[in-house]
Amino acid sequence: MVAKPMDDGYGKKIIECKNVKKVYRMGKEKIVAVNDVSFEILKGEFCCLLGTSGSGKSTLLNLMAGIEKASGGGIFIKGKNIRSMSEKDLAKFRQQYLGFVFQSYNLLNSMTAIENVEFPLVFKRVPAKQRRRMAIEMLTKVGLKTRMNHKPKEMSGGQQQRVGIARAFVAKPEIVFADEPTGNLDTKTTMEVMDLIKGMARENKQTIVMVTHDPRLAEYADKIIRVLDGNVQSVEVRHDINDPNDNYTAEAIHAQAKKQDMEMEKQEPEVKYVPVIPGEDDNQSGVNNMDKSGNK
Ligand SMILES: Nc1ncnc2c1ncn2[C@@H]1O[C@H](COP(=O)(O)OP(=O)(O)O)[C@@H](O)[C@H]1O
Ligand SMILES: [Mg+2]
Repeated sequence: MVAKPMDDGYGKKIIECKNVKKVYRMGKEKIVAVNDVSFEILKGEFCCLLGTSGSGKSTLLNLMAGIEKASGGGIFIKGKNIRSMSEKDLAKFRQQYLGFVFQSYNLLNSMTAIENVEFPLVFKRVPAKQRRRMAIEMLTKVGLKTRMNHKPKEMSGGQQQRVGIARAFVAKPEIVFADEPTGNLDTKTTMEVMDLIKGMARENKQTIVMVTHDPRLAEYADKIIRVLDGNVQSVEVRHDINDPNDNYTAEAIHAQAKKQDMEMEKQEPEVKYVPVIPGEDDNQSGVNNMDKSGNK
């Protein structure tokens, strides 16, 4: 008898939003941030929520990530409606299946890179020695072998975000949510960070849901969901991840990211903190100040 290959769900629906709505109440005023939105994301897809500032991208991402509660509709992740989960079950579910990358990195400043990366494993009750080994492996992968004992303040923005990525991926979550993960980085570092996220996701068949206002970054995606005024304007499938003839393979993307890592590592001693010049890489400079602070 021939054994069937294990079905890991790759290429099948992993997230489904059905008529999702989010209304904020500010005194008497009602703000409809997400208005009756429906779409699907497949396991293994790199999916991008693209739209201008204030269009409802972050709200939608936070609803899917279980950070905020929807006002209506259903959000199904791995077939489970996260809206009907208790707080406790949702917290467990998030720990088990979800990872997060933030625009403002959200690293703990008093901890070293290695301690920051170990953090999600503490909650998963991974033994200390194994935790350390996994964190070291991850930091080496993101090209920070020589920066493992540094604290966030002793690293450049790009390096801090690499730590953020290592932390998001260390427990190999099935889905990684990222809200403008390169929003505070210069163009070159942005491309490196994007390649890194994509390479890692492809290697482990992980699903990425990334928010951006930048159409150039949406080029990395398999699926682009365009958001406007709380509505989905269009869903564009650029790469069918179920198509075996698509040459957008995990190996190719990962090899490219790895090459860049190695180059980065070689250059590392010279890397100094590069201040981000507001507006330089932000095609809506000034408009997006709320995002810059890491707030919505
Ligand atoms: N906590 C909140 N309270 C009230 N209004 C909010 C809140 N968060 C977001 N909004 C509003 O919802 C809309 C969508 O915001 P957001 O999802 O942050 O957009 P984007 O991420 O696309 O810039 C905006 O009008 C914003 O002002
Ligand atoms: Mg936002």
